[in-house]
Amino acid sequence: MQKLLEQPGFLAPSGTFGADLSYLLAVLFTGMFLFAWGLAKKGLGTQHHKLIFVSMVSMLVYFIGYYYARQLGVLSFEGKEGFGGPQNIYDNIFVPTLTTHLILVCLGLIFSIYMIFQGFRACEKIDGNYFLQNKELQANPKIFKSTMITLVLLWAGNQLVLTFIRHKSFAASLAWAIIFGVIALTIYLEKYIEKSLPDGAQRHRILGRVTMVIFALILVTSTLVYLMLYVIYPKI
Ligand code: HEM
Repeated sequence: MQKLLEQPGFLAPSGTFGADLSYLLAVLFTGMFLFAWGLAKKGLGTQHHKLIFVSMVSMLVYFIGYYYARQLGVLSFEGKEGFGGPQNIYDNIFVPTLTTHLILVCLGLIFSIYMIFQGFRACEKIDGNYFLQNKELQANPKIFKSTMITLVLLWAGNQLVLTFIRHKSFAASLAWAIIFGVIALTIYLEKYIEKSLPDGAQRHRILGRVTMVIFALILVTSTLVYLMLYVIYPKI
């Protein structure tokens, strides 16, 4: 697998097969999300929901498979190794763009997972089609509490497996603690979001647009990183 990813690319002369495939799939998935925005704008709620679902599942499968094959963190490492331009461009343009890209990817993942749950909660299925409901949408306190308890139990179970069965490092435990922490924080933030945007349909439209803008920016920043690494400043 590693050998295949290191083969010469098919988009730019100095790109690798892995980098080109990664970039093309990033364009495809973000494009699918933006197309789903267009469907929602046309009032096609069910098609919008189906496309979001397919994009999300394929994006997660790709993320897990690709990063498992190339090991996490390779993107920034590759940046240092593969960037052939001047140091000031590297420090002042490349690194800030790559950092912004990685932050946007994390935000995009958090927002889209949140939005999928919010979409189901804010919609009603009438004759097989989804319609947003213009009414107050609040989390049931009992469900809120049991979700938090389940999350803590899942984290504790995972931590036991990491420590006693897989004998993983402290860094791995910390990374998992951060992942669970972000999920808990997002669920907790819902209480504040409910207060500022009580109407479920309005909340879906406003936060959905924010999510879509994040996806558009992911597309822009990944294109910039690709261009800088493999077209403008390749390492010769
Ligand atoms: C990543 C997840 C999602 C995002 C980013 C998202 C985004 C959006 C946006 C931006 C709109 C408003 C379009 C506009 O007027 O500009 C919208 C509308 C809508 N969404 Fe979503 N959505 C997501 C998931 C879902 C899910 C899971 C469902 C259903 C279960 C759903 C059902 C709807 C419906 C019914 C509308 C209204 C369409 C209409 O105006 O008739 N969405 N969504």
